[in-house]
Amino acid sequence: MPITTCVFDAYGTLFDVAAAARQAASEPDHTALADVWPQVAEHWRTKQLQYTWLRAVTRDHTDFWQVTQDGLDWALEKLGLAGDAAMRERLLALYWELQAYPEVPDMLAALKANGMNTAILSNGSPDMLNGAVQSAGIEEVLDTTLSVESVGIFKPDARVYDLVGQHFGCEKSEVLFVSSNGWDACAAAAYGFETAWVNRAGEPVDRLVAAPNHHLTDLTGIPKIASA
Ligand code: LAC
Repeated sequence: MPITTCVFDAYGTLFDVAAAARQAASEPDHTALADVWPQVAEHWRTKQLQYTWLRAVTRDHTDFWQVTQDGLDWALEKLGLAGDAAMRERLLALYWELQAYPEVPDMLAALKANGMNTAILSNGSPDMLNGAVQSAGIEEVLDTTLSVESVGIFKPDARVYDLVGQHFGCEKSEVLFVSSNGWDACAAAAYGFETAWVNRAGEPVDRLVAAPNHHLTDLTGIPKIASA
């Protein structure tokens, strides 16, 4: 079936999750981050995601804002930065206004010009996602933002991917799902979506039950794949 609906993961895919640590490190109050911000960003992201998977497996759901704070606290303690409350607050505040990758507005506008449905499907809580969407100025080119909070479990539980069909009334095969997270792209492919993996870092493919259909290094090729 032709693609009618393009659905995007949010964090790491549309929004640059390293931007918070990078931005804080450039500010005079947070020079302690100057050399270690890439490690802060990496540990923060890794723990945030691990906590989503563990909470899904153990059925101890909490929202993405809580796991975002928990992941940051682990990262700051690991790097000997746990005592700096002002730095913690700044990093968390920046998470609400993450930069979108530069190609995002034009790419979404091209999809809308081609008549596609467009959506975010994310672990993020609705208020976090609204903050990021507003700050990136992309609300006009997104039809909806779907959050796991409406099913109370994180990706890659199938109930999350079910939200797309429930919202748009479309078949799985009409959906192009786009994620920079290899595990999310593999899980969405196994679920039955056509899937594009945005592999900016040149990572190997995750060894899971299915593999993404398309591999890209940024989002500029999405409109062409969706209309092929
Ligand atoms: C999300 C995380 C996985 O936006 O990046 O769902």
